[in-house]
Amino acid sequence: MALPKDFLWGGATAANQAEGGVLEGGRGLSNVDVMPTGPDRKLVAAGKQRMLEWDEDHYYPAKAAIDMYHRYKEDIKLFAEMGFKVYRMSLSWTRIFPNGDDREPNEEGLRFYEEIFKELRKYDIEPLVTIAHFDVPLHLIKQYGSWRNRDLIGFYVKYARTVLTRYQGLVNYWLTINEINILLHQPFVGGGIIFEEGENEEQVKYQAAHHQLVASAAATKIAHEIDPNNKVGCMLAGGNHYPYMCRPEDYKEAIDRDREGYFFIDVQARGKYPNYALKKFEREGLEIKMEPEDKDILASAPVDFVSFSYYSSRTVSAYAEDYQQTTGNIFATIKNPNLPSSEWGWQIDPMGLRNSLNQMYDRYQKPLFIVENGLGAVDIPDENGFVDDEYRIEYLRKHIEAFTDAVEIDGVELLGYTTWGCVDLVAASTGQMSKRYGFIYVDRDDEGNGTLERSKKKSFYWYKKVIETNGMEL
Ligand code: BG6
Repeated sequence: MALPKDFLWGGATAANQAEGGVLEGGRGLSNVDVMPTGPDRKLVAAGKQRMLEWDEDHYYPAKAAIDMYHRYKEDIKLFAEMGFKVYRMSLSWTRIFPNGDDREPNEEGLRFYEEIFKELRKYDIEPLVTIAHFDVPLHLIKQYGSWRNRDLIGFYVKYARTVLTRYQGLVNYWLTINEINILLHQPFVGGGIIFEEGENEEQVKYQAAHHQLVASAAATKIAHEIDPNNKVGCMLAGGNHYPYMCRPEDYKEAIDRDREGYFFIDVQARGKYPNYALKKFEREGLEIKMEPEDKDILASAPVDFVSFSYYSSRTVSAYAEDYQQTTGNIFATIKNPNLPSSEWGWQIDPMGLRNSLNQMYDRYQKPLFIVENGLGAVDIPDENGFVDDEYRIEYLRKHIEAFTDAVEIDGVELLGYTTWGCVDLVAASTGQMSKRYGFIYVDRDDEGNGTLERSKKKSFYWYKKVIETNGMEL
């Protein structure tokens, strides 16, 4: 038994963490460009600190990132050498619409991505394109308050229509919004949201979520109209929740926490708000403003497949006192005594991936796609510059085994697997370069020093073999 012959093996990156060149090619600035490293980053990400300009006191890693803007040919060549069938990447919104509300798109930006897609096609690599990956034009944040404002639907839809039209025939796989549920946990990262003093934050977040959901459905509809071959997916920051103990109230807590994320996917995959969400709005006095046509838009365009990132499972309890030993840095989670952790405290749980796949397949009955998975670790090159990253191989091997079981034993329909940060890039949560995920090492440190030269790690050769044997040789 094996994975399907056309299984899409590959890797993933995002524009804001890889491209750099933020002031080149007529590009405008976006939220992620102004996020510094260091302690302020967390506050900015949470929408608790307004920092919308560059200053001298901070370092902004997205400015140059790993300079993929100038080096994409070299990187794609290396992906091809590993045998990638698919490459997940994102478009930078501000390369196409520098301010977000421009009348006309920026031709230079459109051409840039066209060249990338052609380069990928040269090697028979299928692009999987995220339209917005933690990416909102800065001007839309300053002028409109970002996704809290309904006008954002129109700006996003115009942007989506522009790229869907321009890249017709070059791109068939699309994701509308990366990790859409991150909006609830890091509102500035997920939606450019900055809170005003004293406002009801839940109200703001769910209003912004509604706008994103309507925009995502409208884009999905347009994608199908432009080209019936287009396959559009939603994208969840995945990872299931375990009850801390076998207390029924802990189990209920785990269900509720799973629902925080599934809320988005329930709307995107089923085309309507789930009852538990409507009850929550009612109970908490959240008044989400919806226009009469929204219901139809949501219902008209459920996604074709469900994609998600998976790094870790999470453990939750109904009792606050259990949260003394927590771990991870985005989701509040109790340390699971049964699992090891990464250097950044993310719990390593391959079996959790199989569990998640089963849970989601049962829930949606749509093909799934693992579009991010990997180990963020410190790599130390030896005297010849070679990284022996057996720890990364071990992590990936176990996760591949787990999803293979989900396919072969449980019958889950899985389209493909793209590991996160196939070439080292800037970490989203911390802004560090030293939190590396890649098969390809990039010579750059947390302060921006280094030649940016690329070199192959041990995992590069390993992954090449994995793809060659369609996952039989791990
Ligand atoms: C996901 C994002 O949250 O996880 C990526 O979609 C991100 O953009 C990845 O890089 C890993 O997180 P981090 O913080 O280690 O980069």
